[in-house]
Amino acid sequence: MQLMLVTLFPEMLSALTQSGVTGRACELGLVQIGAVNPRDFAFNKHKSVDDRPYGGGPGMVMAIEPLRLAIAEARKRAPNASVVYMSPQGQPLTQTRVKDLASNEALIFVAGRYEGIDERLIAAEVDEEISIGDYVLSGGELPAMVVMDAVCRWVPGVLGHDQSAEQDSFVNGLLDCEHYTRPEIHDGQSVPEVLLSGNHERIRKWRLQRSLVRTLERRPDLLEQRVLTQEEKTLLGEYLSQQQTD
Ligand SMILES: C[S@@+](CC[C@H](N)C(=O)[O-])C[C@H]1O[C@@H](n2cnc3c(N)ncnc32)[C@H](O)[C@@H]1O
Repeated sequence: MQLMLVTLFPEMLSALTQSGVTGRACELGLVQIGAVNPRDFAFNKHKSVDDRPYGGGPGMVMAIEPLRLAIAEARKRAPNASVVYMSPQGQPLTQTRVKDLASNEALIFVAGRYEGIDERLIAAEVDEEISIGDYVLSGGELPAMVVMDAVCRWVPGVLGHDQSAEQDSFVNGLLDCEHYTRPEIHDGQSVPEVLLSGNHERIRKWRLQRSLVRTLERRPDLLEQRVLTQEEKTLLGEYLSQQQTD
């Protein structure tokens, strides 16, 4: 999969290309991550990449021409890519959207700076706008890298078998269960006995029950949107009646 970022700060991408799961995915050639810098297309007298907003007021807007040419260059390098503008005004990112995006063979992300980009450029060049949350950051690089990281996890081969993205929070509408590692007793607290039992079916049921309980406690809104299976209803019911007797 090819992921391109149109950015004034291409060096920020090293956080993805040189560390962890995404770094390894790049090394193995499963994902190609590249950048195009509008500054390289700033052919005006002062090589500026920002411009004053019509109507006045504080803040600048990204200059149209360098950005347009940078997007054109990104399209040349990734011909079949959809273009995503990272914006606090975009659709909020969800795991479902991440999975859909991961089915593209290439994606181009546009990182805004200053007050953002000219509305006409959005209309002409952008397929969709995505937000990573209801707050404003200084630039679209971190948001784009958040999406890139999340998307990489769905590229076949990027995660090892035991790290399957399918088990993560939100994938089946629930939060993930708790995780434990050695030692068996830490700070006087033991690992739940069932995880030491070696009984795979008991462990599966315990994990599902804990997922349900954590979702109920931390994100009841997710449970409201989800139809529970009979097994899930039973496991949650068992937990709740246990709570009442305790
Ligand atoms: C300072 S922000 C501009 C905010 C814009 N004036 C507004 O209020 O909608 C600069 C750039 O950061 C990026 N950005 C900031 N917050 C974001 C968010 N929550 N999600 C996605 N991108 C964001 C966008 O690319 C934006 O163009």
